[in-house]
Amino acid sequence: MSRYVKYRNRLLSALYKGILKPVLFLLDPEDIHDFFVRFGAFLGKFSPIRWKISKLFDYRNEKLRQKILGIDFRNPVGLAAGFDKDIELTDIISSLGFGFEEVGSITAKACDGNPRPRLWRLPKTKSLGVWYGLKNKGAKILSKKLANKIHQLPIGVNIAFTNCKENLDIPSAISDYVAGIQVMEKYADYITVNLSCPNTLGGIPFIMPESYGKLMVEIDKNPTNKPFFVKISPDMTHQEIDKFLEITGRHRVHGIICTNLSKEYDQKEIKDPIPPQGGLSGRVVFPKALDLLSYMYKKVGNKYIFIFCGGIFSADDAYRVIKQGASLIELITGMIFEGPQIVSEINRGLVEKITRDGFKNISEALGVENK
Ligand SMILES: Cc1cc2nc3c(=O)[nH]c(=O)nc-3n(C[C@H](O)[C@H](O)[C@H](O)COP(=O)(O)O)c2cc1C
Repeated sequence: MSRYVKYRNRLLSALYKGILKPVLFLLDPEDIHDFFVRFGAFLGKFSPIRWKISKLFDYRNEKLRQKILGIDFRNPVGLAAGFDKDIELTDIISSLGFGFEEVGSITAKACDGNPRPRLWRLPKTKSLGVWYGLKNKGAKILSKKLANKIHQLPIGVNIAFTNCKENLDIPSAISDYVAGIQVMEKYADYITVNLSCPNTLGGIPFIMPESYGKLMVEIDKNPTNKPFFVKISPDMTHQEIDKFLEITGRHRVHGIICTNLSKEYDQKEIKDPIPPQGGLSGRVVFPKALDLLSYMYKKVGNKYIFIFCGGIFSADDAYRVIKQGASLIELITGMIFEGPQIVSEINRGLVEKITRDGFKNISEALGVENK
C-alpha cells in the first residue's frame, strides 16, 4: 500500500508541477484560490466523487491516529486557517487526506477585508504574501454552515476580531472576539483565538502582554467547554514568549498554534520582490516557528498541545517539528507549491520514519529531540 501511494504521489506531483502549476502561476492568485475553493465545495457535494478523490489522494495508517484533548485525529496533518475562510470545504478535505481542518478566521461581523490585490506569490522564496485582512462572511452566517452537520474530521474554528475602525479601541476588539467565540463555539471541535493576524487596522495588539491579558480575562468570564488554542506570531522574541506563557498559564488554554504569517521583510531567505504590504507565509516562517516551538516545548513540555504551522513542505519537515514537540501540523503554502498530494505524502513519509525509528505510533515521537 505504502509503495503504491509513493509512486501514485510521485506521478501526481509530476503532473502538478509539470503541467498544472506553471499555468496556475500565470493567473491571479486570489482568482485561482477562489476557483479552487468553489470547485472543491462543488465536488464535496457528491459522495461518488468524494470516494474517487480519496482513491487518488488519501492515505490511511493507524500509526498516525492520536486522541488529543478528547478529539480523534486520524492523522496529524491539518489545513491551516485562511484557506477555507467561509467554511466551503469541510465535505472534501477528508478525501484529500487531511486529518483535520481549521476554518476561518471568522469574525463576529462580516468583513470584506482589505482592497485587492492582497495575495502574491514569491516563487523563489516558496512563500506567499498575504494581505486579506480577515475577509469572511461573519459568525452569524457561517455558524449555520456547521449547525446540524456531522463532519468526518475534527473542525477547529479560528476566531479573530472584526477588522474595522471601531475595533481600533482594545475593549471593543475584545468584545468582538468574545461575541465571535460565543456564536461559533458550539459548532467547533476546538476553538482557536487568532492573536496574530498581521493585516488588520492597528497592527497586532493582542500579542502585547497587556491586551492579551485583558482579552483572556474576558474570555474566561464567558467560558467555553471546547478545547482552546491561541495562535501566535513567528516574529515574537523569546522575551515576549516568556511573558506570553506567563499570562497563558493563568487562563484556560489547552494549546498553542505556532505560528501565523511573518512581517519581517529583511530575512536573507527572501529571494523575490517583497509585496507592498501584508505578511509572509511558507519557508520564511519555518525557521522562526521552529525556534519558538523548540523554545516553548523545552520550557513547558506537555503542558500545552502544540500545533506547528509555517512552511511545512515535506515529511522531513513534519517529522522534525514533531520531534521538537508539535502534536499536530497545519499547512497551506506547501500544498500550493507542491500540489495536493503533499498531504498523503507527508503522512506516508511519517509512517516510514516512525517505523524506521522503532516508534509504534506518531505520539511516541513527540518531543523526543527536545527533552
Ligand atoms: C492565503 C492565506 C490566508 C490566511 N488567512 C489566515 C487567517 O484568516 N487566519 C489565520 O489565523 N491565519 C491565516 N493565514 C496564516 C496561515 O494559517 C498559516 O499560519 C501561515 O500561512 C503559515 O503556514 P504555511 O506556511 O503552511 O502557509 C493565512 C495564510 C494564507 C497563505
